[in-house]
Amino acid sequence: MKCLQSLLAAKASILLVYLSLLSTTTYVAARPKFYQKNTTSDPWQPFHKFAGCHKGDHIDGLAKLKQYLHQFGYIPSSSSSSPNFTDIFDETLESALKQYQKNFNINTTGQLDNNTVQMITRPRCGDADIINGTSSMNSGKSAHTNHHSVSHYSFFSNSPEWPDSQRNLTYAFSPENRLPNNTKAVFSRAFQRWSAVTPLTFTEIDSYPYADIKIGFFVGDHGDGEAFDGTLGTLAHAFAPTSGLFHLDGEEEWVVDGDITKSKSSTAIDLESVAVHEIGHVLGLGHSSVEDSIMYPSIAAGTRKTVLADDDIQGIQVLYGSNPNYNSSSSTPSDTAKDTNDGGVHIVDWHWSLTTFMSTVVFLCLLV
Ligand SMILES: *[C@@H]1O[C@H](CO)[C@@H](O)[C@H](O)[C@H]1NC(C)=O
Ligand SMILES: *[C@@H]1O[C@H](CO)[C@@H](O)[C@H](O)[C@H]1NC(C)=O
Ligand SMILES: *[C@@H]1O[C@H](CO)[C@@H](O)[C@H](O)[C@H]1NC(C)=O
Ligand SMILES: *[C@@H]1O[C@H](CO)[C@@H](O)[C@H](O)[C@H]1NC(C)=O
Ligand SMILES: *[C@@H]1O[C@H](CO)[C@@H](O)[C@H](O)[C@H]1NC(C)=O
Ligand SMILES: *[C@@H]1O[C@H](CO)[C@@H](O)[C@H](O)[C@H]1NC(C)=O
Ligand SMILES: *[C@@H]1O[C@H](CO)[C@@H](O)[C@H](O)[C@H]1NC(C)=O
Ligand SMILES: *[C@@H]1O[C@H](CO)[C@@H](O)[C@H](O)[C@H]1NC(C)=O
Repeated sequence: MKCLQSLLAAKASILLVYLSLLSTTTYVAARPKFYQKNTTSDPWQPFHKFAGCHKGDHIDGLAKLKQYLHQFGYIPSSSSSSPNFTDIFDETLESALKQYQKNFNINTTGQLDNNTVQMITRPRCGDADIINGTSSMNSGKSAHTNHHSVSHYSFFSNSPEWPDSQRNLTYAFSPENRLPNNTKAVFSRAFQRWSAVTPLTFTEIDSYPYADIKIGFFVGDHGDGEAFDGTLGTLAHAFAPTSGLFHLDGEEEWVVDGDITKSKSSTAIDLESVAVHEIGHVLGLGHSSVEDSIMYPSIAAGTRKTVLADDDIQGIQVLYGSNPNYNSSSSTPSDTAKDTNDGGVHIVDWHWSLTTFMSTVVFLCLLV
């Protein structure tokens, strides 16, 4: 009898340990194998000190902020070489800030107020908002079309798209990255979001050189003139059709699985959210000022946004038409809630394997 009691107590404590293990493994952040220990920290963190600066001020490092605004198209350069900016808050900076604020739905004060600095320092896509002086976002639209009921999707200049003969697209991963299957599955899900609303299909092939869409993680300067900048800052970039190049910053803390909103890391970036955005570029969409849209340029660390907004769907369907099976009237905001549920179900990485293993062990123990 005593023996049975202690056996039951032992089983109960095993069960407790098991339950606590389960609750700690609901969040699974996995860094891909190629992830390097040596990361440079957030390159835009120093911009926080500019909050509250005014026109006419001379502040050390302000040239770097101008460089940032130049990188994303807000300060045009006359020459092709990197312009020589000063540390003075001048007229040029003020008008660039106004344009930036307009695009990001911030009051157009032309000041470095807190809201503006917060937005500027948020991690974002490396693709510019203004290309060759043409803004794809709010600031490029005339006042009367800039109304909330008007969609804000955009295309690259001259609206390049994949031709009619190329609607079944192939993609491949850089063989050097040797990505695990659960990471590849994230991209597969991201592609499905676009194929669900268009006649396009996406099939993974092994041959990187022959694939229409070439996906790879790179660190720093990787030869396309758009160097990555370490943790945070720019996260990824992709080129207009029919380039198919889709590059991700290998120094980000990419989360491939689990509930990222429970991450304690301040640098965790949701891979699927970024992948859905970059595929939008690969297919021909530019940035949008609609904050809920996938094509909005920035995303805060620790957040997830993977569901196409109406703005994204309208934009992509202008280029490619609708998927015959897509029913726009059944698409409701409740998709967002469904999203996180199916986010990890098909994925088995080692954390999940451990949980499965433990559940088997505990199950067997309880049977004894
Ligand atoms: C990390 O990278 C930086 C810049 O690429 C380099 O200067 C530094 O020496 C590296 N540190 C280590 C420990 O490898
Ligand atoms: C950049 O500007 C500074 C100050 O105006 C000047 O001293 C420096 O030579 C310039 N550098 C280049 C590369 O033009
Ligand atoms: C934007 O400006 C308006 C009018 O000046 C003001 O009422 C509002 O509070 C400002 N919004 C923010 C976020 O600062
Ligand atoms: C901006 O942020 C700083 C520090 O975070 C704070 O002291 C200041 O009051 C804020 N200003 C406004 C207008 O919110
Ligand atoms: C920008 O304009 C230049 C010169 O007109 C052209 O060569 C280049 O392709 C354009 N870039 C884009 C992205 O449209
Ligand atoms: C794409 O594939 C579908 C089904 O496999 C086929 O019916 C269609 O003709 C293909 N489209 C093109 C443009 O090759
Ligand atoms: C990954 O997927 C490929 C193709 O589906 C399969 O052949 C391979 O065994 C999988 N690898 C692992 C480790 O599960
Ligand atoms: C589209 O979805 C709505 C709501 O779920 C449904 O009432 C309607 O019959 C569907 N239409 C088609 C063509 O499937």
